Amino acid sequence: MIVLKTVRELSIMREACRISAGALKLIGSAIEPGVTTAELDRLAEEYIRSQGAVPNFKNYHGYPATACISINNEVIHGIPTASRKIQAGDIVSVDLGALFEGYHGDNAATFACGDISAEAQRLIDTTRESLYEGIKMARAGGRIGDISFAIQSYVEARGYSVVRDFVGHGVGTSLHEAPEVPNFGTAGRGVRLLPGMTLAIEPMVNMGNYGVKVMPDGWTVLTKDGSLSAHFEHTVAITTDGPQIMTLA
Ligand code: MF3
Ligand code: CO
Repeated sequence: MIVLKTVRELSIMREACRISAGALKLIGSAIEPGVTTAELDRLAEEYIRSQGAVPNFKNYHGYPATACISINNEVIHGIPTASRKIQAGDIVSVDLGALFEGYHGDNAATFACGDISAEAQRLIDTTRESLYEGIKMARAGGRIGDISFAIQSYVEARGYSVVRDFVGHGVGTSLHEAPEVPNFGTAGRGVRLLPGMTLAIEPMVNMGNYGVKVMPDGWTVLTKDGSLSAHFEHTVAITTDGPQIMTLA
């Protein structure tokens, strides 16, 4: 079932999203050579709690942390640990969210640590841009497939691939709600978009093939071919005035 949110609900949810975006920005600004992923995670958790919200990934299906921090060939769901230090040249995908007064925010971004290769920077830029191409299509009267197709075609035209095994999703009083929002598909197909829908749109883009595998820890998703991967996500509301990005710091 797809839940449409009222204007009042959207205003609460915008607060959850603002906190989520603030925590993401904070981690982004703290990334430097030598910092551990556990240190970054703690920063985000403290920030979210200081805002009267709760880290919504923590304990989600047993997930043990506030943020997912995934480095280089890790696609998503990397678990922060005290032994994992970020190094200059790494690309670091951070995904996190906050629950505030019953509503969830969810967002992600890939950051560079120090100087990274031009190829890695191009992957990051393309992934971010593909998210905005998808968001442009999040309009009442359109369909989910319009978003999916916009992302896929933008990414593939630049020689990269979109991950198939994980998709974006509705978000609201649950972190994951209907509908699914794949990053690949056909324009004009899928669920009709209506005002009040709130979607987490989140392209995961691999430099090589789209294949992924899960590590023995049961969480960390890696590219099968070892290529770099980037991830950007915003929570977006569909309104009569067009798409509204809610996860702005
Ligand atoms: N961030 C994921 C998403 O965007 C969900 C994370 S699952 C968790 O949908 F268990 F790590 F929280
Ligand atoms: Co999400």
